[in-house]
Amino acid sequence: MVTAFAPGKCILFGEHAVVYGQPAVAVSIDAGVEVTISESSRWILEGKPFEPSRHPHISHIINDIFEYTGRPLEIDIKSELFSAAGLGSSAALSNSMGAALHHFVRPNEPLDLISLARIGHSAEANAQKGRASPTDTATSALGGCVVVSGDRVKGTQHFFDATLETPEGSRSWSISKVELPEIEDVWLVLGFTGIGSPTGDMVAGVSELLKSDPLKMKEIEAIGEITYSGLRALSSGNMEEVGHAMNECQERLRKIGVSSPELENLISATESHSLGVKLTGAGGGGCMVSLTRNPQRVAECIEIAGGRPLVSKFGSGGARIVIEEN
Ligand code: PMV
Repeated sequence: MVTAFAPGKCILFGEHAVVYGQPAVAVSIDAGVEVTISESSRWILEGKPFEPSRHPHISHIINDIFEYTGRPLEIDIKSELFSAAGLGSSAALSNSMGAALHHFVRPNEPLDLISLARIGHSAEANAQKGRASPTDTATSALGGCVVVSGDRVKGTQHFFDATLETPEGSRSWSISKVELPEIEDVWLVLGFTGIGSPTGDMVAGVSELLKSDPLKMKEIEAIGEITYSGLRALSSGNMEEVGHAMNECQERLRKIGVSSPELENLISATESHSLGVKLTGAGGGGCMVSLTRNPQRVAECIEIAGGRPLVSKFGSGGARIVIEEN
């Protein structure tokens, strides 16, 4: 039996602008997805017969990536993440499945996190008709603070490049990490609006806006500049500056129409206790994120305002094997 864990993620800077070549910065969070696999006499998922067509991420990893032909498996999934909330739950599922199966098939080969990030990205792309950015899977696999960009980003440590053939042509990304200094008394608190975050629709909406009002491209460029200053603040551990950059980023995200009354409700409920607060991910619904020295207070404010809070320390670890029994 093997149990693997992979964390969810939250985007600190650069959502939407990354679609136009600017960098995005994401951090792994404490909550994630745990997958346990063990040998069985039948294929079972979550206590029921496994139907591969209903679980494209898992079946792609078993059949296409590992080409597994061994005895049937029983697969159990425990998720601490809100789904369709922009926290990377399908990436965390793919990575924890990939990590667990890797360890099950090759128990003596250590887990290479870059290969795992590629497995997760392949599973996401396969499930999403060839369209998937590597942001969620790379952040979940590597952990910490991950930068995804069209080009290499100065001042970061390059880890790998990812390429994907999409229906719109070939796309490629450079993935790097920023080593965070010791950050002790600052937490992230996510607040889920309870409304699904439709990434495809939100990205299409921004594209329409830019077509009808090309001057809005200056907001995208401003998000790029804010992302660079946020990155510098992160590297030097200046969390007040990180928070300030988050607030500025939110201003620009409003101007491109991706915030919503539900997100603004949670943002205004928490801003007086936050160093910075913004929506995270595609927007519309999904989550906001607060950077704070007072996580309990922020979590309470989110609950009182009708949202669902999730507290995380800053820059938690990446995918890992948590239990292994013969
Ligand atoms: O909500 P998420 O985690 O899928 O984030 C979407 C981020 C976007 O920049 C809006 C889209 C993308 O592909 O990067």
